[in-house]
Amino acid sequence: MLFSLALALAAATAALATAPHSDAKFALTSIPSTPDARRTVVATSRASSGNNVKLFDYFNGTDLQWYGQLSLGTPLQNFTVVFDTGSVSLEVPGVACGAACANQRQFDPSKSSTFQDEDYNTTVTFGTGIGVDPVVGNNWEMDLAFVADVLVVGDINVPLGGFFLITNQTSTFLPDPFDGIMGLSPDMGDFFADAGLPAIFGMWFTPKSGKAEGAGELTLGGVDTTKFKEPLLYSPIVNDAWQPTSQGIFVNDKTTSTLNKTFPITFDSGTSNILFVEETALAIYNLISPDIVANPDEPGTFGIACDRIPTLPAVISIQFAGIPGQGSFNLTIPSSELSSGPFTNKPELCQTLINVSEGFNLIGLSLLKHYYTAWDINGTRMGFSPNGF
Ligand SMILES: *[C@@H]1O[C@H](CO)[C@@H](O)[C@H](O)[C@H]1NC(C)=O
Ligand SMILES: *[C@@H]1O[C@H](CO)[C@@H](O)[C@H](O)[C@H]1NC(C)=O
Ligand SMILES: *[C@@H]1O[C@H](CO)[C@@H](O)[C@H](O)[C@H]1NC(C)=O
Ligand SMILES: *[C@@H]1O[C@H](CO)[C@@H](O)[C@H](O)[C@H]1NC(C)=O
Ligand SMILES: *[C@@H]1O[C@H](CO)[C@@H](O)[C@H](O)[C@H]1NC(C)=O
Ligand SMILES: *[C@@H]1O[C@H](CO)[C@@H](O)[C@H](O)[C@H]1NC(C)=O
Ligand SMILES: *[C@@H]1O[C@H](CO)[C@@H](O)[C@H](O)[C@H]1NC(C)=O
Ligand SMILES: *[C@@H]1O[C@H](CO)[C@@H](O)[C@H](O)[C@H]1NC(C)=O
Repeated sequence: MLFSLALALAAATAALATAPHSDAKFALTSIPSTPDARRTVVATSRASSGNNVKLFDYFNGTDLQWYGQLSLGTPLQNFTVVFDTGSVSLEVPGVACGAACANQRQFDPSKSSTFQDEDYNTTVTFGTGIGVDPVVGNNWEMDLAFVADVLVVGDINVPLGGFFLITNQTSTFLPDPFDGIMGLSPDMGDFFADAGLPAIFGMWFTPKSGKAEGAGELTLGGVDTTKFKEPLLYSPIVNDAWQPTSQGIFVNDKTTSTLNKTFPITFDSGTSNILFVEETALAIYNLISPDIVANPDEPGTFGIACDRIPTLPAVISIQFAGIPGQGSFNLTIPSSELSSGPFTNKPELCQTLINVSEGFNLIGLSLLKHYYTAWDINGTRMGFSPNGF
């Protein structure tokens, strides 16, 4: 019953993605823009080595969902959050949420001497869903209050950072294995400015069965050059989202007229696998095996008999535009990502890595864990170097 979510604000939509074969859901929404309540302040303490934040793989054996710690208030109250490149703000449960956030740590404003209420409340409603537990009406909703307080991530200290306290939420959120979400969309430039850091961060996730299994790291204000060897190759991003432009998808070196075209793809560290529009997903699956079929029990998902998985080559390469002066390059998802494991209700059927979405293309950890990634807000570009670990 573990799942993770991403308030994906890419193109003003929010994506709520889940771990494989869990109580799955995917949702879209838009949330009101943050009021102009963020303070621009000078960082009070910062050690360069402390810009690295350790990430933990929550789902042992899946390597698809990661979280880290941050702290809020004076004295500090600790929270675990998903660092989510698909969303734009920080949300943690507040004590006002009470039983509705019973499984999560709750921020207590009365215990912080530096807390400020910004007197602005809002609601996020998740709009469109697929999965075994679909979004229906307002069954995925969070009430939020905008506040400000000390924010510490790693050794970075923002004396007055704006964030949201969750004051109520529908019971659909109760199984969250982490407390909150810290958005790291390109709109988070204010956070880096408040922290006195360059507006760039690096992310390092590691595949299971690799040399560094279980290790993960977020670097704020730069990249950790000890975690990759080959120079980063950069692709420009568009639409104020982590959205480089794909120039074509190849499956085992083959493409089709459906796949050989130019379209933006969003990279989302809060999404476990991959979501593509139906025609793209079907075209990829057709090139892997005609026996990959939709699983009607979990709308949007596909699968194939588990005993077929080891025999199927499924190398997916996606070509991306390069920044000026640098050529296009491929990012490659190895065959080992084809299966995300058996479906709970049909153990002989293994879930394959791509879900069908309603109108957008999102890539998560299936690819991100195979590259060190640089997320360059100021440079409006993303960088990739193969993960040697
Ligand atoms: C994952 O495995 C590690 C080491 O075996 C263990 O310490 C940790 O508690 C596990 N985490 C979860 C969420 O099961
Ligand atoms: C918060 O986390 C830090 C670092 O892990 C730890 O030293 C501290 O004791 C924690 N504080 C609380 C109140 O749990
Ligand atoms: C926001 O919601 C909280 C918790 O429900 C409430 O105490 C507060 O009065 C609300 N603030 C505004 C400005 O509506
Ligand atoms: C795909 O759908 C399944 C079932 O609804 C879910 O478990 C999985 O997390 C979804 N994957 C993504 C990337 O949303
Ligand atoms: C919290 O949300 C639930 C719906 O999930 C609603 O029934 C309940 O009335 C809300 N509580 C408050 C205090 O707004
Ligand atoms: C932003 O990028 C420009 C050039 O691309 C550079 O001159 C400037 O120093 C950068 N600003 C910050 C805050 O990193
Ligand atoms: C990407 O991979 C495909 C298939 O292997 C190949 O045809 C294409 O030339 C590659 N693109 C680049 C820029 O290397
Ligand atoms: C892909 O499309 C480009 C331009 O539209 C074309 O030049 C190229 O031959 C196509 N490649 C394949 C393998 O179909």
